[in-house]
Amino acid sequence: MAAQQGPRDATALDAADWLDVHFAACQPEYEALLRAVGIQSGWRVLDAGCGGGSHLPLLAQLVGPTGQIAALDLAPDNVATVQSRLAEQALPCPIAPRQGTLTALPYPDAAFDAVWCANVAQHLDDRALATALAEFRRVVRPGGLVAVKDVDMSLWRLAPADPLLIAALSRASLQLSGSDAERETRGSLRGRTLRGWLERAGLEAVWQRTTLIERWQPLRPIERRLWADWLAHLAALAEARGLESAELAAWRAVADADAPEHPLNRPDCYLCEGQVLAVGRVPRA
Ligand SMILES: C[S@@+](CC[C@H](N)C(=O)[O-])C[C@H]1O[C@@H](n2cnc3c(N)ncnc32)[C@H](O)[C@@H]1O
Repeated sequence: MAAQQGPRDATALDAADWLDVHFAACQPEYEALLRAVGIQSGWRVLDAGCGGGSHLPLLAQLVGPTGQIAALDLAPDNVATVQSRLAEQALPCPIAPRQGTLTALPYPDAAFDAVWCANVAQHLDDRALATALAEFRRVVRPGGLVAVKDVDMSLWRLAPADPLLIAALSRASLQLSGSDAERETRGSLRGRTLRGWLERAGLEAVWQRTTLIERWQPLRPIERRLWADWLAHLAALAEARGLESAELAAWRAVADADAPEHPLNRPDCYLCEGQVLAVGRVPRA
């Protein structure tokens, strides 16, 4: 099998092609989480941090022809990808992509019935997350919904491999005080506390659901590709972040998925990532 070229830095994990692979490998669980939010036919919904637009087809199906969707992302390349995809694939409702930031949303108060924000909170520091949640509350009408889905990397697991593989990388990253690595790592470990974040933002009737996305052999090619790329990326981070030699050796052992004894090539391979959905209602008065 040809070597998989992994994304090389954190920015690459936001590129539309990587997001497409991740979405395709996790589509059943991702779509079940989006269906669980409670989005209704005819609603106006903001996809906040839409990336390449992976969630837009199901969002458009949920709101139907009488609904409307706004798709916002910080990265102009991702907005351009959404625009070109919409030109090729007709969806059932109008969709308006634009560039902008979650921390200063370019929409009036109460413009939407719901906000859907998937896999973006992990990139924000605490202050930016609080600001984004206040913005979500502002642009959703009283009685509408704010839904935030995010990874929790403390639930990530590769076997057979060192069970503390990701913990070692996380610990080393957290020690890089003030760096992007520290911010991204804190964000990636915050998923299971989202319920409290929505409550502190003043949302009501907040609930949270955690889903483990578990895979065993035989892996689908898209699942193998996701994990081969992901492991190459994380192993490169491990090289850069000052791990202990034994921890670095454990990461080197999983860097190249073409190696015959690599976990992805073993019959007892087990893969797991954890995704958390938190949903709250904007107070009516
Ligand atoms: C991991 S991707 C998730 C994309 C999409 N929601 C999905 O689940 O496939 C994170 C996205 O958030 C965007 N992003 C990061 N910070 C942002 C901000 N402050 N405002 C808007 N978008 C942001 C990135 O450009 C990227 O497209």
